[in-house]
Amino acid sequence: MTETLTIRDNRTGRDYEVAITDGTIRAADLKQIAVDGEPGLATYDPGFVNTASCRSAITYIDGDAGILEYRGYPIEQLAESSTFLEVAYLLLNGELPNSAQLEQWTHDITFHTFLHENIKTFIEGFRYDAHPMGMTMAAIAALSTFYPDARDIGDPDNRKLQATRLIAKMPTLGAFAFRHGQGKPYVYPDNELSYVDNFLAMLFKMSERKYDADPRLSRALEILFILHADHEQNCSANAVRSVGSSGVDPYSAIAAGVGALYGPLHGGANEAVLRMLRRIGDVSNIPEFIEGVKAGNERLMGFGHRVYKNYDPRAKIIKQAADGVFEVTGVNPLLKIALELEKIALEDEYFVSRKLYPNVDFYSGLIYEALQFPPEMFTVLFAIGRMPGWLAQWEELSGDKEQKIARPKQVYTGARTRDFVPIDKR
Ligand SMILES: CC(C)(COP(=O)(O)OP(=O)(O)OC[C@H]1O[C@@H](n2cnc3c(N)ncnc32)[C@H](O)[C@@H]1OP(=O)(O)O)[C@@H](O)C(=O)NCCC(=O)NCCS
Repeated sequence: MTETLTIRDNRTGRDYEVAITDGTIRAADLKQIAVDGEPGLATYDPGFVNTASCRSAITYIDGDAGILEYRGYPIEQLAESSTFLEVAYLLLNGELPNSAQLEQWTHDITFHTFLHENIKTFIEGFRYDAHPMGMTMAAIAALSTFYPDARDIGDPDNRKLQATRLIAKMPTLGAFAFRHGQGKPYVYPDNELSYVDNFLAMLFKMSERKYDADPRLSRALEILFILHADHEQNCSANAVRSVGSSGVDPYSAIAAGVGALYGPLHGGANEAVLRMLRRIGDVSNIPEFIEGVKAGNERLMGFGHRVYKNYDPRAKIIKQAADGVFEVTGVNPLLKIALELEKIALEDEYFVSRKLYPNVDFYSGLIYEALQFPPEMFTVLFAIGRMPGWLAQWEELSGDKEQKIARPKQVYTGARTRDFVPIDKR
């Protein structure tokens, strides 16, 4: 039996029946609700707070219950037992790989880790203090010119090849951007190492023959990549889908996603958390800081989420991963401030009534800092982790017959037709 919704238009007294599917009505069904001669009814939803833009089988979130699943697998189990490449495969293909599939996938990724030398020259062209996220975004967009074949987005094998390239090249790009800022020579990929170990080697290797990452640090970074791998229709996934809906190549669509992630309200939040913790400086300054937040002077960065109205499940896992990292690196002194901030905020009526809990960014910055990343690199790390998610969203979009070019409506509030006024009359 089809579920329906009856709507009465009190302007005309007419009743309409629209179908309910999966808890949604189609906005286009509202068009028929019109006062004679006027355009039909539309929905107004700035920030898409209650509008589904697609049907998706990739990531499930129950924000009230604090549940996050990739293709049905709870994030906790994936963080505990899988590798980032397994998770990437899962997101892209819908199933976890068997041994042969994983071996092939690992081989394919490893095969594509190198960048064209001209991309290296391109990165060298940035100013010494260029933000690594700006470099990463630009370099990803530039890759579209190296792979003109990527424009053939109708071919599934071609899409797969570009997805493999993007996941494989991200650590290399991120590491080059990092070394550029440090004035250090770029380190080429070492294809004998795992995905994460190779990334750490490209970041930190100096004159040693082989870079040996501490497995505890490497695992912590792997977990962080897994936790960031997808998060359904967030701002950057929406950007990838929106730009991708024009039929552009994946490098250009993904570059748009990187741009979205760069913003402080999205991926830039962990950088903002760290700056905030530094500014607070001491536990004794927390009460005054909290008063400022409650007075609306600023936000408690790393708190609150559009979807989670409960403890972000990723924040819990990160908090545990932090312990492993601090075992190796020693405790980050800012941790004390973060723990105390969390304690106070979780008891304070302002935060409780608004259901503001720590999100993924609250603790990730502390780990990244302990791993010796400067704050500008944090969002790049997020982008490396998020790449499989963006690609899975883009792949899903490519196969979705219902999708059209993204083109929202507007409610026009400006002036209507008026005559041009010559400059001396204005
Ligand atoms: C993530 C975020 C953008 C979600 O925003 P949103 O869903 O649009 O929620 P709103 O901005 O409508 O916030 C709802 C209420 O909570 C308050 N609020 C939300 N996040 C807050 C925060 N971090 N600190 C203080 N107050 C906050 C808002 O001021 C608002 O209060 P009001 O109802 O009195 O006006 C927002 O919580 C935020 O800016 N957090 C800090 C940045 C951050 O950590 N981002 C990373 C996300 S993974």
